[in-house]
Amino acid sequence: MKTIIHNIKTIYTSKLKPPVKGKDMASIETIDQPYLVIEDGIIQVIDKGNYHKHLDSDTEIYDAKQSIMIPGLIDSHTHLVFGGSREFEFSQKIAGVPYLDILAAGGGILNTVNATKYASFDELYEQAKKSLDEMFLFGVTSLEVKSGYGLDLETEMKQLKVAKLLNENHPIDIYMTYLGAHALPKEYKDKRDKYIDQVIEDLNVIHQEKLADYVDVFCETGVFTAKETKKILTAAKKLGFKLRVHSDEIESIGGTKVSINLEAKTVDHLMAITESDMELLAKSNTIGNLLPSTSFFLNKEYAPARKMIEKGMALAVSSDYNPGSTPSENYQLTLQIAGNKLRMLPTEILTASTINPAYSLDIDEFVGSIEVGKSADLLLLDCPNLDYFIYHYGINHTHSVFKKGKLFIENRKVVDE
Ligand code: NIG
Ligand code: FE
Repeated sequence: MKTIIHNIKTIYTSKLKPPVKGKDMASIETIDQPYLVIEDGIIQVIDKGNYHKHLDSDTEIYDAKQSIMIPGLIDSHTHLVFGGSREFEFSQKIAGVPYLDILAAGGGILNTVNATKYASFDELYEQAKKSLDEMFLFGVTSLEVKSGYGLDLETEMKQLKVAKLLNENHPIDIYMTYLGAHALPKEYKDKRDKYIDQVIEDLNVIHQEKLADYVDVFCETGVFTAKETKKILTAAKKLGFKLRVHSDEIESIGGTKVSINLEAKTVDHLMAITESDMELLAKSNTIGNLLPSTSFFLNKEYAPARKMIEKGMALAVSSDYNPGSTPSENYQLTLQIAGNKLRMLPTEILTASTINPAYSLDIDEFVGSIEVGKSADLLLLDCPNLDYFIYHYGINHTHSVFKKGKLFIENRKVVDE
């Protein structure tokens, strides 16, 4: 099956080998007025001029109508699968009750844990699918999904099995992370060590059942200490899991150093990161995964992205979609907040939403940039240029979405089969 996409205004893509660090993040190649030939889902030709020599009798031709093209977006930190929602905590939140106080009082994550436990597999599936469909409309073509709203093996597995089935049924590719250490369950209040041992034991089952490639821990004051984080991550690494870590979201308590030493793929949040940890990260291959929508929604500090780039770190930007700290599927808005609040350049943001997150998920060989030989995961935007995409905020700029060479979305609507 051959498809030609023509009448593209400009292609914007990174072509550097990831992790793309520091000032290289702004290095984006542009190709004006190109066309693309796709065969069996793979980009075969990127060229300019007359495409007619590539035409066969059954070639499909797609007119991009002078939209611009970027790689399909890769959101590498989400909590897609959960029960219920938390709008009933919103008034508390805007009245200034701190996130960790709501959690310490048995609310926050623990409320969602309850709702997730009582939700059936089908309910969780339907709710997550609805969000996934929404993310697709915003141009996301690969997605990381964490568990962490079960805090018992059965419910954690239910979440991961929902994600697995969605991966089989939905065009978006999903990569799964086990986050059993997302909060201490109420019933373990006075026996923390027991819960940590339980999480470590459960890792074996997750591994045997092939329900996740990654393990994550929420390392934070009042949640899990750096020492506990190290214990869980070390056990996970031994089993062959790759690591992603919630660290320095509210306070810096040592999780970032632990993660770098264990060669984690990402450390995520980093609003409270120290300068010395930025320097360590810059020397490592661990990606700093920034989640600016969370700062926006929690009315918190933003991660010091400019300083991180100056120091030579490799950054990704992710949505952190979840019911507590970022209840929005609009990944384009996350990228626009990265522009306005992290003060990242549109070119840096493109690197942070394509090739660097692809690297963090070990999928950079086949997605994350528009190059011959890679999967045709492509996002066409109704924008005159890349700057406009980041500057004109709050709307969906999607013109069309191709996943593995197939057109799924056009004019912000799902294409009928
Ligand atoms: O990444 N920080 C920890 N976990 C999520 C929030 C989860 C929740 O509040 O439900 C986050 O922000
Ligand atoms: Fe998160």
